[in-house]
Amino acid sequence: MLSVTRRASFLLGYNPLWVFAQLLGLLALILIGILFDKKHTAGGYNWKTSPFNYHPLMMTIGLLFCYGNAILSYRTLTRVPKFTVKLVHACLLVLSLIFALVGLTAIIRVKNESKPPSSHFMSLHAWMGLITIILFVFQWIFGFCCFLFPTLSLEIRQLYMPSHRLWGKTIFSMALITILMGITEAGAFEAFFVGQDANRSVRLMMIFFGLFTAGFGFIVNYLLEKNDFQRPSDPDNDSLNNNNNNKK
Ligand code: HEM
Repeated sequence: MLSVTRRASFLLGYNPLWVFAQLLGLLALILIGILFDKKHTAGGYNWKTSPFNYHPLMMTIGLLFCYGNAILSYRTLTRVPKFTVKLVHACLLVLSLIFALVGLTAIIRVKNESKPPSSHFMSLHAWMGLITIILFVFQWIFGFCCFLFPTLSLEIRQLYMPSHRLWGKTIFSMALITILMGITEAGAFEAFFVGQDANRSVRLMMIFFGLFTAGFGFIVNYLLEKNDFQRPSDPDNDSLNNNNNNKK
């Protein structure tokens, strides 16, 4: 049961910030969706002829929105039994990975199919993106083996929990940085940020996409960091949480 002060802190602090974060996240998704549609980018969303346009959209849905909500799920769903939240957390992360892999396939296809084929992983954005996805996969596998498939001892799981939390936040921040680098790179390729202001609306959409993305990421990290918003321990099935900082 949540204490009265805890409940007040959730109602007045967590809930409004969560709603605001969702709003920013959805605005970011709408802007990135519009930026690469037929009206603003050649080809629009056509998997056969212009796969690139799926890359930013899929990456933003997967590694910003789904991932952000997955790592907040323990705080958002405080009244839901812990095991169910674990499943929600794991499933949202699988969904993030599926979107990210579609986004990765899109950009790899673009490079392979361009004439002549262009080299892979030539930019900082590309390297950061690849490292982010690799770390994400490892984090998911370790998390699954430790917390959903509990064959490991309680001591090992307790020992691993702080690392899982640290890496979860680190990988989310890396995804955020990669997205911001990606939109900057795409804008720079099209010279949207220099010279004449002929493409004012596209430039502004790119800038606001970046601001909404950063705002969503900042609030998610704030909600994760604040102790008041941690899930209260559940003595019946929460043997892992013997101190507040170890909660997941
Ligand atoms: C977390 C999200 C993202 C990840 C993990 C990611 C990952 C990658 C990777 C791995 C590549 C290189 C593929 C290759 O060389 O074969 C790439 C390329 C590219 N991405 Fe992203 N990306 C993300 C978000 C975005 C966004 C939001 C944009 C915005 C338009 C974007 C724009 C680009 C562009 C223009 C390229 C081609 C140039 C290059 O190779 O750097 N990316 N991305």
